[in-house]
Amino acid sequence: MHVLVTGGAGYIGSHTVKELLRAGYKVTVLDNLFRGHRSAMQHLRGADFIQGDIVDRELVAELLKNRGIRAVMHFAALSLVGESVANPSPYYQNNVIKGLALLEAVREAGVPYFIFSSTAAVYGEPEQVPIEENHALRPTNPYGATKLAFEEALRWYDKAYGIKYICLRYFNAAGADPDGELGEDHRPETHLIPLVLKAALGIYPGVTVFGTDYPTPDGTCVRDYIHVTDLAAAHVLALQALEGGLPSAVYNLGNERGYSVREVIEVARRVTGRNIPVKEGDRRPGDPAVLVASSRRIRKELGWRPCYGDLETIIGTAWEWYRLHPEGYEN
Ligand code: UFG
Repeated sequence: MHVLVTGGAGYIGSHTVKELLRAGYKVTVLDNLFRGHRSAMQHLRGADFIQGDIVDRELVAELLKNRGIRAVMHFAALSLVGESVANPSPYYQNNVIKGLALLEAVREAGVPYFIFSSTAAVYGEPEQVPIEENHALRPTNPYGATKLAFEEALRWYDKAYGIKYICLRYFNAAGADPDGELGEDHRPETHLIPLVLKAALGIYPGVTVFGTDYPTPDGTCVRDYIHVTDLAAAHVLALQALEGGLPSAVYNLGNERGYSVREVIEVARRVTGRNIPVKEGDRRPGDPAVLVASSRRIRKELGWRPCYGDLETIIGTAWEWYRLHPEGYEN
C-alpha cells in the first residue's frame, strides 16, 4: 500500500514516515519545506520526497493517480497556539483552505483512507480531566478552531463520499527518534521541553515559567507529554484499522499522566545533569491549567500501547538529539 504523507519533513510527520517504512508501506512525502526540513528526509531514504504544496491541485491529483495512492496522512499545517491567536489568517489559509483543497483532490481521486493530525486544542478549557473524546469541543484559539473545522469536514465527507478517516488528537508531543536520526526543530521554538534542553546546553538564556498561580499542586500548568514515536506508531495502527474495515473514528493520544512545568524542569535537570536557569513569569494567554488525556479508547479499540511513556525517556531521547544537533537539522 502506497501512502502520501503531507508535512512528512516536519517533526511528527517525519517520525511517522519512519514507522510507516518500518511497517513495510511505500511512502511519498509532500512538503513545501515552510517548516519542514530537507535534511530530515536524508534519514528516510525509502521514502520519495516531493517539494510542493497541498494546495497545488494538479500536482496532488497527479501524485494520487500516478502512484496509486490508497491513503493520505495529513500533517502539513501550522501548529502554534500563541501564533494563531496573534495572527489567525495563515491558520485559516493553511489549515482550512489548503486542507480542503487536499481533501477535494482525495475525493476526486477516490482515495479511500485519510488519517488526520488533530490536537487536544479542539477541546478548549476542559470541564473534567482526563479528557475523553466525547468531551465538549470548544476551542479557545484559532489553531484548535481550524483543526476542528477540518475534522468536521472529514465527518461530512465520509457520510457523503465514503472517505474513511481517523482523527488523532495529540496532547503534548515531545521527545525524539530513539535511533537519534530525527528530532524536533521548530523555528521559532516555543515548546517547553526543547527550550528547557536548549537552556541546559547554554544556547538559550533560561526558561520562563508561564504562571505560578494556577490551581495545580505546584501552581504551574500540567500537561500530558507523549513520545513522538508512540504517536507515530498510532498512525500506523490507525491505517491498519481502516484497511481492516474499522469505521471512521476519533482518538486521543496521551499518556494519561500529567506533569507540571516545574516537574518537567526537574526531570530535565536529572536527565541532563546540567544547570537550567529558570525564572518565573506571567501566565501565557490561552493556557488551560491542566490538560490530561484519556487514551482508553485507542488502547481498547486499536490496542495502542506506548513504549516510551515515562518522562525520563521522553526527555532523554530529546536530549540525545539536541546534544548532537544543538542548532537543529541544518547544523
Ligand atoms: N511553558 C512555559 N515556558 C515556556 C514554554 C512553555 O512555562 O517557555 C509552559 C506552557 O505555559 C504550558 C507548558 O509549558 O503550560 C507546555 O507548553 P508548550 O508550548 O510546550 O505546549 P502547549 O501545551 O502550549 O501546546 C502543545 C502543542 C499544541 C497542542 C497542545 C495540546 O504545541 O499544538 O500541546 O495540548 F494543541
